[in-house]
Amino acid sequence: MAAQEHPQSGAPKLASDVPIVEFRGVTKRFGDFTAIRDVTFKVDDLHGKGEFVCILGPSGCGKSTVLRLIAGLSPQHPPSEGEVLVDGVPVTGPGADRGMVFQDYTSFDHLTVEDNVAFGLKCQGIGKAERRERAREWIAKVGLSVARDAQKYPHQLSGGMRQRVAIARTLILRPRIILMDEPFGALDPSTRMHMQNNLVELWRDLEATVFFITHSIEEAVFLGDRIYIMSSSPGTILRELAVPPPDRPAAEMQKEAGFLEHVFDIRDTIETLEASQRAGDD
Ligand SMILES: Nc1ncnc2c1ncn2[C@@H]1O[C@H](COP(=O)(O)OP(=O)(O)O)[C@@H](O)[C@H]1O
Ligand SMILES: [Mg+2]
Repeated sequence: MAAQEHPQSGAPKLASDVPIVEFRGVTKRFGDFTAIRDVTFKVDDLHGKGEFVCILGPSGCGKSTVLRLIAGLSPQHPPSEGEVLVDGVPVTGPGADRGMVFQDYTSFDHLTVEDNVAFGLKCQGIGKAERRERAREWIAKVGLSVARDAQKYPHQLSGGMRQRVAIARTLILRPRIILMDEPFGALDPSTRMHMQNNLVELWRDLEATVFFITHSIEEAVFLGDRIYIMSSSPGTILRELAVPPPDRPAAEMQKEAGFLEHVFDIRDTIETLEASQRAGDD
């Protein structure tokens, strides 16, 4: 591409030359404790597609720290050292371009499903009729029933249904970057698999870049285009690998030899890492 052949030409960069998210030597300390150290990576801005990046790593290795730095949420934001850039610009705080989904189903208890899903639109000043229409569209998109569920309150829903509401609340705003912190961690395996398939469909449609934290290697290999494996204390990215995109249902892909090879390969990496850490502890 011309812009790469003549880097000194001063020509304006194509939008796709600027990574959508970049960490440059990012370290985060909480007091004397270093949570992540010298984390560096780049995720390209794939126009009309968006990459699905999964982050795997042991508890406490700094996965949420990385995600919250992208979101611009304190106290993880700002970094102690280095730079966190979105579209080439340092993150200064939260923004509408980034949407977050947490493990604990964050909805307002006093609002119905429909009002929860429409909440962000209300904040944007969108009128009642349009809010209602779009909220109902999203309630259906995440696999809930408009007729049965729209007027329910969160306490009347199962965990899986509440997480669907949380996903709809975030995705209705069409963020370019979707940040998901172990969103399916508390769900039973069958619900989890349905939600994975649903998420893939929604992601294709939104063409967003996704950062998805999980403890499940299978989940990461299914959902991810790319996987970052983090090591603990202080967290750093130990390995990065590309995996085939989720182009068939999870139940099907998870039985294939190629899929299992990736799972075993990653498991080996993590076991080696854990063994070396145990040796280091002695
Ligand atoms: N606000 C904070 N104050 C002090 N320590 C923190 C804070 N947030 C996270 N940590 C510590 O930083 C490390 C990384 O945390 P976190 O990013 O939440 O890990 P993970 O999401 O991988 O489980 C952990 O040891 C955690 O205890
Ligand atoms: Mg975490």
